[in-house]
Amino acid sequence: MKSIVIYFSRAGYNYVNGEIKYLEIGNTEVIAKKIAELTNSDIFKIEPMLPYSEDYSECIEEARQDQKAGARPELKEYPKKLEDYAVIYLGYPNYWGTMPMVMFTFLENTKLTDKIIKPFCSNEGSGLGRSEEDIKRLCTNCTIEKGLSLHGANFDELELKKWAEKY
Ligand SMILES: Cc1cc2nc3c(=O)[nH]c(=O)nc-3n(C[C@H](O)[C@H](O)[C@H](O)COP(=O)(O)O)c2cc1C
Repeated sequence: MKSIVIYFSRAGYNYVNGEIKYLEIGNTEVIAKKIAELTNSDIFKIEPMLPYSEDYSECIEEARQDQKAGARPELKEYPKKLEDYAVIYLGYPNYWGTMPMVMFTFLENTKLTDKIIKPFCSNEGSGLGRSEEDIKRLCTNCTIEKGLSLHGANFDELELKKWAEKY
């Protein structure tokens, strides 16, 4: 079955293990690339037209406002020919208890049908939050497999491999 990893991730300053650090590549992106490699999947990065701030505190505030307002930030581009794929690995960081609002934009504007969706979420301790329920609500014509929560900076590669290869 053909599969694709579709993810959002933000490089820049982030809070990692109790410290603010500059990440050249976002945590979710590192995991997304690993999954693509392990499962021989294609890969697509979701990017908002207006990127979130590189500054951690500013980004925290932007994302909080976004969620409060129910914003649907515009995307630069959508993945093409999704009809070719049976499995979608859907990756994102936990932002305030669920997916970043760009993921809502993506799922609402892309009518996914008959896909197996495997959510994975990097976070600093809140796990997948409400994201699995949100995905189920937005993708009623798909099968949503049990999601995987990963600690942003130090995740278990073996656990990731086991989860990614099973569907
Ligand atoms: C705006 C924002 C909100 C966040 N909210 C949460 C949260 O509610 N729970 C949590 O465990 N981590 C939260 N985090 C931490 C991120 O989920 C975590 O650092 C993630 O690995 C970042 O992924 P990325 O580098 O791919 O963007 C938040 C980070 C940001 C920037």
